[in-house]
Amino acid sequence: MASKLAVVGLASALAIGLCIVRPARAHAQDASMDFKIYCSRCHGENGKGDGPDAGTLKTPPRNFTDCATMSKISDATMFKAIKDGGAAVNLPNDMPSWSAGLDDDEIHGLMAYIRKFCKQ
Ligand code: HEC
Repeated sequence: MASKLAVVGLASALAIGLCIVRPARAHAQDASMDFKIYCSRCHGENGKGDGPDAGTLKTPPRNFTDCATMSKISDATMFKAIKDGGAAVNLPNDMPSWSAGLDDDEIHGLMAYIRKFCKQ
C-alpha cells in the first residue's frame, strides 16, 4: 500500500515536472517568443551571445550578429545544431539539444529569426 502510494506520488511529481519543463506543444509560439523563452538566456535578446546565463558556460554562446562566422554555417548544420545539440555538429555540448522541446517547424522559424540578425 505504502509503496503503491509512493509510486503514484512519484508519477505525479514527474508529470508536474514535465509540464514545467515543456510548455504544451498545442500552443506553438512564434519564433520571437521561442527565442526569448529558450535561447535568449544564453544567446542574448539581441543575439549577441550575452544572455544572463552566458557567463556560466565553458564556451561563450554564439554571437548571431557576427555575420562573417554565421554566413559560413549552412542551414542544414544550423538545423542539426539546434535540434540535436552542439555535440552533433562538433561544437561543445554547452549548446543544448532541443529535439524534445521544439518541433521541426519551430526550429525552422528560429533559424529564420537568427538569420535576421545579419540582414539589416
Ligand atoms: C545553455 C546555453 C544555450 C542555450 C539555452 C542555447 N544555446 Fe545555442 N549555443 C550555445 C553555445 C555554448 C554554442 C556554441 C558556440 C560556439 O561553439 O561557438 C551555441 C551555438 C549555437 C548555434 C551555432 C551552431 C553552429 O552550427 O555553429 C546556433 C545556431 C544556436 N546555438 C542556436 C540556438 C537556439 C535556436 C537556441 C534556442 C532554441 C539556443 N541556441 C539555445 C549555448 C546555448
